[in-house]
Amino acid sequence: MGLIPQNVLDDILDKSDIVELIASYIPLKKSGRNFKANCPFHHEKTPSFTVSPDKQIYHCFGCGAGGNAFNFLMKYERVEFIDAVKVLAHKTNVMLPSVEERLPEESSFIKDLYKINELAASYYTSNLLNQDTGKPAHTYLARRNVSKESIVKFRLGYSINAWDGLLKYARQRGVSPDILNKAGLALPSSKDNSFYDRFRHRLIFPIFDSKDKIIAFGARVLDDSLPKYVNSPETPIYTKGRHLYGLNLAKSAIAQADYVIIVEGYMDMISAYQGGVENIVASCGTALTTEQIRLLKRFTNEVVMVYDADQAGQMASLRNLDILITEGLSVRLVSLPTGEDPDSYVNKFGGSGFRKLVENAKDLFSYKLDLLLQKYKKNTPEGKTKIVSEMLPTLSRIPNAVLKSSYLKKLAQDLDIDEEALKIELQKVRGAYSYSYEPDTKQKLDSSGVMKVAERILVTLMLEDSKLVGNVMKELDYEAFQDGTIRKIVKVLYDFYREGKDITPNKIISYLDDESSPELISELISDTHIYNDKEKNLRDCIKWVKHSLLKDRLKILQTEIRAAEVNNDHARLKELLNQYSTLIKERNFICAEEKRSEN
Ligand code: CTP
Ligand code: MN
Repeated sequence: MGLIPQNVLDDILDKSDIVELIASYIPLKKSGRNFKANCPFHHEKTPSFTVSPDKQIYHCFGCGAGGNAFNFLMKYERVEFIDAVKVLAHKTNVMLPSVEERLPEESSFIKDLYKINELAASYYTSNLLNQDTGKPAHTYLARRNVSKESIVKFRLGYSINAWDGLLKYARQRGVSPDILNKAGLALPSSKDNSFYDRFRHRLIFPIFDSKDKIIAFGARVLDDSLPKYVNSPETPIYTKGRHLYGLNLAKSAIAQADYVIIVEGYMDMISAYQGGVENIVASCGTALTTEQIRLLKRFTNEVVMVYDADQAGQMASLRNLDILITEGLSVRLVSLPTGEDPDSYVNKFGGSGFRKLVENAKDLFSYKLDLLLQKYKKNTPEGKTKIVSEMLPTLSRIPNAVLKSSYLKKLAQDLDIDEEALKIELQKVRGAYSYSYEPDTKQKLDSSGVMKVAERILVTLMLEDSKLVGNVMKELDYEAFQDGTIRKIVKVLYDFYREGKDITPNKIISYLDDESSPELISELISDTHIYNDKEKNLRDCIKWVKHSLLKDRLKILQTEIRAAEVNNDHARLKELLNQYSTLIKERNFICAEEKRSEN
């Protein structure tokens, strides 16, 4: 996004029809004003996928997928935004401006970086393929059972034991040390203004994006010296945590198997892939990020994490997996025997042995529960409490209500506690899907769940009736919204309003370049809830948001006041107390106003 002018995107959306588009992929059935289908993005027997011709959006009530025509194409065809735009531009006969023409400088620099990575990769492979220079790496790869075929597939290479191997090679081809440095391949020397190769005497693993372009490199020593791996730094084309090693090769197998195996290391990925387990990627030793998860979601909604023995018992690494659930993925886990990693396991038991292990993976809920039952005594109140407090955050994120309730039941049974008590505890946990709301009943002002609901209602009302945007804008800055996705949407709504543009949800969506915004917008406007008294709902929600903001600010002030007291900083203390009393007045004013409107 960003490269194609918004008016062109708007034009494409105006000329296309989402019903026609989706009907060309899956059968749609008319149902009232909308169309229904079995969702193409998750397995289901009764249709919960709806397409609205009026709003020009789609939404699945089952898995939460949703958005405009571009989003559908991206998800269904598994392509990036720009390619979805191209497809739809073609269908609607809209001319796209040439991207290169618009941003000549940046795009040629970026292109150069890709070219240099290609150049470096071919240099490293030529080293490896050369009988003489490649010998140490060859011996090493043979010892680790990496086949010729894998070497070619993964484009493995070798950086010779010299300070200027790549520098020389590049210079002969007209590439300056300075740009090698910008590509992360060379480093400036501290002595003079020369440069030296970043990777020396190492096995080279080029890292590809999902379109087969080299964006960075990983490099391993050939012995036990340290550091074991050296990786490219971040560059304009490489941001850590945005890519997954091996995805370029694995993506079709992932889509076909409809699940992805996630391992840690380069060698783990390569060995398994070589052993015929091709639906696999490597996270390269870090915790999964939301970007990586979204990348995977283009291909599947099921993840199997493979943990080694010392990771397996760690709660911290399990907690990280809750984000996978929040992102709507189903997560299973498998732990390896002590001392093994996927690479060594494949070498011992073959790809088929590894596949078997993976097929017996446990779902996150059971895995975690088993682990907790080993760790804590379930027959003591303390043990029960510990287990429950670890399980509930995971449970609260499970979007499917049926699944959630059956897990809840199991947890209650296993721990021999009252299911109702567990339900109450669950409601206290803040989770992405854990709130429920009745708009016209009075609720406590200060629960974070209600806060989120208030924000959601405000956005819904603004999306449905653009006149209301002005009312909200007068009262709340977009930064007052706590939820990140909602904040982004509100910012665009305000911009639209200020510029006097038509507020249509499907167009708003194409201004937002993340995945959660389109899904949230389509969810909110597909909700059939009818707000009877819009103005009153709006006023109430604005009040809630203001109130909660005040509360947060008061809390922060209290901590600051305490700190000033401890430090005997009288001037600061006086200033803080002044601020405090102003805020209290403000809060009292809102409360008084509330009472007035109730009477
Ligand atoms: N890693 C890294 N830098 C390090 C150590 C690890 O970037 N200094 C990343 C690499 O992507 C590595 C992964 O973390 O593949 C897992 O690390 P580890 O288990 O130590 O290495 P293995 O992949 O098992 O490597 P090998 O089998 O070659 O020892
Ligand atoms: Mn290993």
